[in-house]
Amino acid sequence: MKLFVTDLEGVEHAIEAMPNWTVMEIIRDGDQPMRAECGGSCACATCHVYVAKEWLDRLPAMEPEERDTLDGGFEVEPNSRLSCQLIMTPDMDGLKVTLTNDSSN
Ligand code: FES
Repeated sequence: MKLFVTDLEGVEHAIEAMPNWTVMEIIRDGDQPMRAECGGSCACATCHVYVAKEWLDRLPAMEPEERDTLDGGFEVEPNSRLSCQLIMTPDMDGLKVTLTNDSSN
């Protein structure tokens, strides 16, 4: 499976994605900048990414906990998600996300 990650310079990277890993872990394992300061506990918003619009409806809906934490992020948009709360499954092969100032600065 592949995860496509666009960095802050607008360069897209194709990363090998393992099933049942979180998108945050896959980005980190793929050597892209990922702060993820709370280690995936849904407590920091430093794993904030933007999801490509065509993928938004294909992902599991946000739990209230994710929404609350995401409120602490910067430049939150309707397509914002916390990448530590997105667990990669085969039907997410080809998912496209873009890094943010929260996750990569
Ligand atoms: Fe902290 Fe995702 S790593 S909320």
